[in-house]
Amino acid sequence: MAHFEVDPDIRRAKTLPSEFYLDPEYFDLSKEKIFARSWHFLCRESEVEGLFPATLLPGVLDEPVLLSRAGGELRCLSNVCTHRGKILVEEACNANLIRCGYHGRRFSLEGKFLSMPEFDGVENFPTEADDLKQMPLANWNGFLFASIDPKDGLDVFVGDAASRITAGSGELKLAAKREYRVNAHWALYCENYLEGFHIPYVHKGLNEIVDYGTYSTETFRFSSLQTGYDADGKIAAHYLFIFPNLMFNFYPWGVSVNVVRPVSPSETVVEFLTYVGDESKLDQGAGADLHTVEMEDEAVVESVQRGIRSRFYSHGRYSPTREQGTHHFHRLIAEFIG
Ligand code: FES
Ligand SMILES: [Fe+2]
Repeated sequence: MAHFEVDPDIRRAKTLPSEFYLDPEYFDLSKEKIFARSWHFLCRESEVEGLFPATLLPGVLDEPVLLSRAGGELRCLSNVCTHRGKILVEEACNANLIRCGYHGRRFSLEGKFLSMPEFDGVENFPTEADDLKQMPLANWNGFLFASIDPKDGLDVFVGDAASRITAGSGELKLAAKREYRVNAHWALYCENYLEGFHIPYVHKGLNEIVDYGTYSTETFRFSSLQTGYDADGKIAAHYLFIFPNLMFNFYPWGVSVNVVRPVSPSETVVEFLTYVGDESKLDQGAGADLHTVEMEDEAVVESVQRGIRSRFYSHGRYSPTREQGTHHFHRLIAEFIG
């Protein structure tokens, strides 16, 4: 397999070669090298009550996890029984211990093995291996994230972008959930999101709201932040991308979270979670008609998916003024894939 390199100097750099998107080997490699090493959005902390089961990146990592609060501290535990592997908690519930519904093994809310029927005489038992594994869990502005084996802390993944964003810290309610299925590689979907270069060409409606001239992109270690301003110079939207697949879009009404989930090298599901803070502003500005913008984006991304299969296309070059976010994303892919 080829080793990818993307020149740090955007003026010299070439985009990722098309084989990255087309070869199923890279798709599989991305699961362990990229997705197991990064942070995944779970939900708002306010949505968690009692014992709260979830799946870490469904379809990709498929890791069953259990959010458990004990002594005021929230933990992310493995939701798999250490006896014969049954899922422990199938639905959110309130309980003061965790009991497996298969053969009655019990664990504390901290994940510590407590008891097991019919195990008298079993040697070297229990050991630490009988406790539930705890995974890294982090909270940013009330958004919860977990990871299997993160390359760095969530604060580093979010980076200095956090200091630019004030929205999202207040009361946010999950108002809608929606899934889009896109016939394209997950990275093509992300790299389209990472540049505002296409706005005047692809998003006629949005282009009337967001001023192309002042649109800005800043990159950090694992994140990037795009800011769109309206004609009066007021911030219309902040678009925060956390590598490799999380988009937090801050609008005057609240936050739209997009989770990009790879399905196959040519299929992706994008989950849209709408968190509303101020309902009165829902119909205004850059965050008003997200469905239309999404349809326009999907059409170009699916067109690129068909285009990169061409034997005449292998890679492209970057605009130094408009594609810093895409260049940064490709550099991170090259770094993680190694
Ligand atoms: S699988 Fe849980 S007690 Fe047997
Ligand atoms: Fe777009």
